[in-house]
Amino acid sequence: MKILCIGDVVGRTGREMLNKFLPKLKSSAELVIVNGENASHGRGLTRNSFDELAASGADVVTLGNHAWGCKDVFALLEHHREVIRPANFSPRSPGRGYTIAKAKNGALVGVINLIGRTFMNPADSPFDAADRAIDAIKQKTDIILVDFHAEATSEKGAMGWYLNGRVSAVFGTHTHVQTSDDCVLPKGTGFISDLGMTGPIFSVLGQDRQTIVDRFVTGIPQKFEVADGRGQLCGCYFEIDENSGRCLSTERVFIKE
Ligand SMILES: [Fe+2]
Ligand SMILES: [Fe+2]
Repeated sequence: MKILCIGDVVGRTGREMLNKFLPKLKSSAELVIVNGENASHGRGLTRNSFDELAASGADVVTLGNHAWGCKDVFALLEHHREVIRPANFSPRSPGRGYTIAKAKNGALVGVINLIGRTFMNPADSPFDAADRAIDAIKQKTDIILVDFHAEATSEKGAMGWYLNGRVSAVFGTHTHVQTSDDCVLPKGTGFISDLGMTGPIFSVLGQDRQTIVDRFVTGIPQKFEVADGRGQLCGCYFEIDENSGRCLSTERVFIKE
């Protein structure tokens, strides 16, 4: 079975790209996981944006450092088991860090969301949180995918090797640029450092380019605005043996409008 994972959806352009291309991409996947931390105005997830992602075909929505960007997320986390936030956020934060979803073919799929600690805000150990979530999910299924939302490629690589043979796939999100290192690690874990961004092409990581240029040139903080214009969609298929949970192959997706 194939599972499609889509990288950070940024703003209206990102949501429109999903609406346009996901139905066809989903026809060859049993389940779709979408990182939605930037879906609403580039920061956070509103109720309306969540509805749009779900209508386009997102089965599970993961978050990241922008999880708390829109207040709607509290109700979404409370009422929708398919919306998850990093498992290594404070145990006092609302919502859950993993979920078990039912794929089109009936298979149960565990999805874990984690956040990195290198060049990011303080968080609990993503490695310990992964261990705990895997122990819980393995009672029900051996098919487990991990969205590791992290800045440092090295930390993402370490997570891939730490979980090698214990989960079906580890995919990175957050840096918004697709990496070409997708592979199957030797014990059957699919891996990619970053899925890339689903949003406006002519931008800096989805943000208005002139705003970011001004910020770097002048050193003066600027209010971020999401860019508009032509879109791109980034993600990766992981082909998984549903009996063993092992990844068999990976296939990157990069669509430019
Ligand atoms: Fe992001
Ligand atoms: Fe992020």
